[in-house]
Amino acid sequence: TTGPVPFRDIAGAVPLSGLPSDDDDPKRMPVLCYQGTWVLAPHLPGIVSIQRSFVPRRGDVVLASPPKCGTTWLKALAFATMARGAYPPTRANEHPLARLNPHDCVPFMETLFFDGEGLSKMDALPSPRLMATHMHHSILPASIKDSADCKIIYICRDPKDMVVSLWHFARRAQPELSFAYMFEDFCNGTSAAGPIWDHVLGYWNASKEKPEKVLFLRYEEMLRDPVGNVRKLAQFVRQPFSPTEEEAGVAMDIVRLCNFDTLRNLGVNKAAAGSSSSSPSPSSSPFANDSYFRKGEDGDWANHVTPDMARRLDAVVEEKLRGSGLSF
Ligand code: A3P
Repeated sequence: TTGPVPFRDIAGAVPLSGLPSDDDDPKRMPVLCYQGTWVLAPHLPGIVSIQRSFVPRRGDVVLASPPKCGTTWLKALAFATMARGAYPPTRANEHPLARLNPHDCVPFMETLFFDGEGLSKMDALPSPRLMATHMHHSILPASIKDSADCKIIYICRDPKDMVVSLWHFARRAQPELSFAYMFEDFCNGTSAAGPIWDHVLGYWNASKEKPEKVLFLRYEEMLRDPVGNVRKLAQFVRQPFSPTEEEAGVAMDIVRLCNFDTLRNLGVNKAAAGSSSSSPSPSSSPFANDSYFRKGEDGDWANHVTPDMARRLDAVVEEKLRGSGLSF
C-alpha cells in the first residue's frame, strides 16, 4: 500500500448533520454522561456503533485526543508521514493538505456516524486506515484497545491551554458562553470529553503498559521538537525514515508542510472555507476551517486564566494524576 488517502476524496461531499441547536441551556455544550465520560451528544450514536461493531484491520492507526490539544496538527503530521510515498511532502502545492483541511484527510470516527453510514464509511477507507477519536481509553472497544493490528497515537496538552482553546472554539457556536462558565465545567470534569484527567490518565497508563501499542505525545513537546516527534511517530507506525530520507530531510519537510502558519494561510483553511468532516454541514456550521487554527502557542492560558483559577485547576489535575508519573 502507499499509505492513507484523503478521507474527503473517498467520501465525496459527506452530508453531516449539525450539533443540536435545541439544547436547553444555550451556555452549555451539548454533552451527555456515557459510561463515566462526558461525550458530545451528537457523537453518542457513533460511539455506541464503534463499541458494538468496530472491526480492526492490520495497519489501522487511531489518533486519540481530548478536544483542542493539537488534533488538527497531529492529523496533518500523521497523514503526511504515513502517505509520504504517494504524496511527497516536498511537492507542497500538489499535496492533499494544500487543498483539504486536515480533518478532511483524517476523519473522526464518531462523526462518520452523523448520517448513520459510519460503518460502511469506515469499511470504505483503504488500508492502512488513519482515523481519529475523542473517546476516553476506558470506552474504546476491546477491538481497538487489545488488537495487535491497531495502533493508537495520543496527544494531550496543559489543561489550562486546553480550556482556553476550547472556550475560543465553543464561542464560535455559542457567542454568549463566558470563560468563567466554561472553566467551571472543565474543573468539574463535565466539559466535552471530560473529565480531562481521566482522559489523559487512561492513555498514559495504556502507553506505559504497552508502549508498542500506544504512543503518548504532548503538544508542548511537539512545539519544542517537531522533527524529533515526527521521527518517533514514523517509527511507531513502522514507517521509519530511511537513511536516504534522513539525508534528504524528509521529516523536516513534513514539519514544514504542517506548520501552523503554512496551514493557516492556505485558502482552504481560511474563514470562508467550507466545513470539515468534523463539523456540521457548511451552511449551518459555526466551525469553519479557520476555527482549528487560532494561536498555536504554549502558555496562552495566562491571558485568560487568573492566578487563582490556575492554582485551582492545577491542584485538581495534580491530585488526580498523583502517583501516575505524569504531570503538567
Ligand atoms: P489554540 O487555540 O491554543 O491556538 P485541535 O486541533 O485539537 O482542535 O486543537 C486546536 C489547537 O491546536 C489550537 O490551539 C490551534 O491553534 C492549534 N493548532 C492547530 N494547528 C496547529 C499546527 N499546525 N501547529 C501547532 N498548533 C496548531
